[in-house]
Amino acid sequence: MHPMLNTAVKAARSAGKIIMRHSHELDRLTIETKGRNDFVSQVDHRAEAAIIDVIRRTYPDHAILAEESGRHAGHEFEWIIDPLDGTTNYLHGYPQYAVSVAVYYQGKPYQAVVFDPMRDELFTASRGAGAQLNDRRIRVSVVGHLDGALLATGFPFKSMAYLEPWIETFRVLLPRTSGVRRAGSAALDLAHVASGRLDGFWEFGLKPWDMAAGCLLIEEAGGRVGDFAGLGNYLDSGNLVAGNPRIYQEIQRLIEPCLPAELRC
Ligand code: IPD
Ligand code: CA
Ligand code: CA
Repeated sequence: MHPMLNTAVKAARSAGKIIMRHSHELDRLTIETKGRNDFVSQVDHRAEAAIIDVIRRTYPDHAILAEESGRHAGHEFEWIIDPLDGTTNYLHGYPQYAVSVAVYYQGKPYQAVVFDPMRDELFTASRGAGAQLNDRRIRVSVVGHLDGALLATGFPFKSMAYLEPWIETFRVLLPRTSGVRRAGSAALDLAHVASGRLDGFWEFGLKPWDMAAGCLLIEEAGGRVGDFAGLGNYLDSGNLVAGNPRIYQEIQRLIEPCLPAELRC
C-alpha cells in the first residue's frame, strides 16, 4: 500500500473509532447549527482533529482542507477531509455515514479512503493502482441501460436554490430506472458506485470533501465522474454525475436539457 494511503487509512480508522464510540450516547451530544439543516456535533470536530493529528505526525508540511476547520496552509499535497459524511443520519441513529479522506497532488486526485465504520467497510484507491474494498479489488457495475440501473442522488436539503432543477432531473430520470435511492451520505454513495452496488449518481451543490475521495474510487474502479458539462470541474462547481461508463453517459444526456444555462457546469 502506498505510504500516504496507509496514513489516510489510519486517519480514517481513528475517526471511525470516535464516531462509533459516541454512537451509543447520541442524546448526550451537543449539536450546533451551521446553517439551515446543517448540523455539527463534537463528534464531527473530534473525528476531524484525530484525522489531522494522524496526518500531521507524518506530513507536517502538507496542505489540508477539512470541512469543520477549513484550510490549513501547506504545499504540494492537499488532504481533503470530511470527518463524518452523513451527520444528519448519524445524529438520528440512522446507520448510513462514513469518513472521507482524499489526497490531491498538483490539483489531481492521488489517494482516497472512504470508511464505513458501521459495516467496517474500507474503500481505498491510489491513482493508477485500482480500487479495493477491504483489500479486494472492486469494479463498477456492468449494467448497460438505465432501465436496469439503481441510481442514488442527494436532495438539495440545505439550500433550496437547486430544488427546482433537481426536481426536473428527478422527473426525467426516475421513470427510466429500476430505482433511485437517497441514503444521505454522498461519500458512501460514491463508494457504492465504485463497488458496483449502485450504477450511477447525481447531485447538485456538493462540497469538495463530500466527493474528493469517492470520485477517485470510481475512476480507479473503471467508472466515470464529471460535472454537468461532462468536464472535470466538479470539485469547484459542486455538481456531480458519476457512474459506470454507460450509465454515466445516459445520465449526462438526459439531464442536460433540464438544466438552466448557469448550472451546465
Ligand atoms: C452531506 C451528505 C449528503 C449530501 C449533502 C452533504 P454532511 O454531508 O453527503 O448526502 O446530500 O450535500 O452535505 O453535511 O453530512 O457531511
Ligand atoms: Ca459531507
Ligand atoms: Ca461532514
